[in-house]
Amino acid sequence: MEIIVAENAGFCFGVNRAVEKTLHELEDKTKEIYSYGPLIHNNQAVENLENKGLHTIYNLDDVKSGKIIIRSHGLSKDISEEILNMNLELVDCTCPYVLSIHKKVEQFSKKGYDIVIIGDKNHPEIIGINSYCENKAYIINTEDEAYELPYLDRVCLVSQTTNTMEKFKKLTSIVEIKSNNIEVFNTICNATKIRQESTLKVAQMVNAMIVIGGKHSSNTQKLVEISRKYCDNVYHIETIKDLSLQEIQKFNKIGITAGASTPSWLIKEAILTMDNLNKDEMMEAIESSFTKI
Ligand code: F3S
Repeated sequence: MEIIVAENAGFCFGVNRAVEKTLHELEDKTKEIYSYGPLIHNNQAVENLENKGLHTIYNLDDVKSGKIIIRSHGLSKDISEEILNMNLELVDCTCPYVLSIHKKVEQFSKKGYDIVIIGDKNHPEIIGINSYCENKAYIINTEDEAYELPYLDRVCLVSQTTNTMEKFKKLTSIVEIKSNNIEVFNTICNATKIRQESTLKVAQMVNAMIVIGGKHSSNTQKLVEISRKYCDNVYHIETIKDLSLQEIQKFNKIGITAGASTPSWLIKEAILTMDNLNKDEMMEAIESSFTKI
């Protein structure tokens, strides 16, 4: 069995930065450290951080003192302001790629442009971006939703950082027809782009593709989507324990990729398990050759 690992897989710059900053904050045992929502979309990594003392919260009611970490995909403007008004300390880990979308949306919204966001309206990154134009953005995620937009005069269009280029181009072309004057910003981040390109490259070469990452991770879901286009057997797993090793042994060329919030130890664990399967296969072959002799 041959195993091919995607060249760019696992933690992106923004997630790595958020995790490193959080680990640094957790060293200070005199203060409680909170994350507003799970720090990253990976249950195993969050569990590890919680074991080190991080508290994940979903509202501010229970917090009286301490530091609150804003995760890499950002937070709504009103909640950030509420945290500051409560005199709590903010550790802002919003990824710079997301921050630049906040700025763009705020700037164009103030100039009177309608904001169109291509993305998932329930994703925290999109909820955060929308708050920078007073929650008035048109959020579209499908071609039908793009066609349903009213005719708009001046539009500023941005994308969720984890979208595929294919979807971005398709929906942008529809919004262009529906607007008089449009400023298009391709805000898909570079880390997403290179992870998708590496996944596509590997998926074309293998009989089965293993995508490691949180079930709620948007960028992991996109890697699954891309893999399915080029490979018939795609397994989206959170850890190697989710995979039937018996089933995977049917394939002779297997690709491995991982989302931007998948820690390296989960990727290594998967590679090691697959490598051990290879050794088992080799041992079985050797043993069966002994009995023949
Ligand atoms: Fe930032 Fe892109 Fe990662 S927006 S958090 S570098 S997926």
